[in-house]
Amino acid sequence: MPATVQPSLAGREPVLVIDDLRIEFPAYKSTVKALNGVSLHVNPGEIVGVIGESGSGKSVTAMLSLRLLPERSYEVKSGRLSILGRDMLTAKEKDLLSVRGRDAAMIFQEPMTALNPTRRIGRQMLDVIIHHQRLSKADATAKAIALLRDMHIADPGQVMNSYPFELSGGMRQRVMIALAFSCDPKLLIADEPTTALDVTVQRQVLLLLREKARARGTAILLITHDMALVSQFCDRVYVMYTGAVVEQGVTAQVMADPRHPYTQGLLSGLPEQVEPGQDLLTIPGQVPNLSALPEGCTFRDRCAFALPKCLQRPPMHTVDAATDHQSACWLSASSHTSSHALSQEPRP
Ligand SMILES: Nc1ncnc2c1ncn2[C@@H]1O[C@H](COP(=O)(O)OP(=O)(O)OP(=O)(O)O)[C@@H](O)[C@H]1O
Ligand SMILES: [Mg+2]
Repeated sequence: MPATVQPSLAGREPVLVIDDLRIEFPAYKSTVKALNGVSLHVNPGEIVGVIGESGSGKSVTAMLSLRLLPERSYEVKSGRLSILGRDMLTAKEKDLLSVRGRDAAMIFQEPMTALNPTRRIGRQMLDVIIHHQRLSKADATAKAIALLRDMHIADPGQVMNSYPFELSGGMRQRVMIALAFSCDPKLLIADEPTTALDVTVQRQVLLLLREKARARGTAILLITHDMALVSQFCDRVYVMYTGAVVEQGVTAQVMADPRHPYTQGLLSGLPEQVEPGQDLLTIPGQVPNLSALPEGCTFRDRCAFALPKCLQRPPMHTVDAATDHQSACWLSASSHTSSHALSQEPRP
């Protein structure tokens, strides 16, 4: 268990632990270093956000957690990853099948890719419920109806009779959430679950997800580009950059007192009252090439505060031990940076 468990939940085993995980995708003549020492954990019942620009390794982290990346496409260089104490990196396929769906489930951005377009919703739900719970068809049907009703779907029978394309995007995502909850998992991993939906539906779906998760004690790892969603829905947050966590803490504290210049950059373009739909487009410069990552702090070329010391990789510095606020910047110990720091031009 890492030394970073939230004090209020100390003593309870995290449902997900990722510790110093490094993975690479070997490619012709180069290697994509997608995860470079990512560490995070999710405690029972918590809603934890992961935020970062495109390419920061959020989806790779999510997919690898359930071993959903194509086998042999990647190499694990170091680290650990466990769900409910089970080592997911060495688990055999049959153990993975029992973890997926039963202990942990995944909700993707576009439910059309997860649902089979040629089969009615009811048939697909029954397949999942019968597979994991070995119920009779009649009991599985009753369970599917109850699950849909629980997702505030007024006419479950009609939805079960429909093909995925006959439903709205918000309704499809409700079906996916119902399916994800069908086996009462301890952990839900949601990768941009509402990005494809309009803002009002997005909020309804996330409120529903949170309400059901809280009621069942299900933990959620919520991956998003949207700082407003993190601030409204997540107890804690991890900020990722080039395949590693650069800042973590209780959401309100990280938002009020961000210590890493990257987090400050993500926040600086947002208005005081963040509205859903604000994307992370505010930091000048580019994410470095993951095939040729610089030594030291990988953010230094975009950072207005870079020092010679930043040629060495900064360790995680504890900003506030009581709330486990940490930041991987040599300057994290001081409140050196104003929250508008990155509105300055970056160094050449
Ligand atoms: N199968 C793969 N083979 C090679 N490289 C990959 C593979 N999957 C992901 N990558 C690379 O790993 C890096 C991290 O990708 P990832 O999808 O995790 O980013 P992300 O943070 O989810 O971004 P986004 O916000 O755009 O979804 C990217 O450079 C991506 O190109
Ligand atoms: Mg992604």
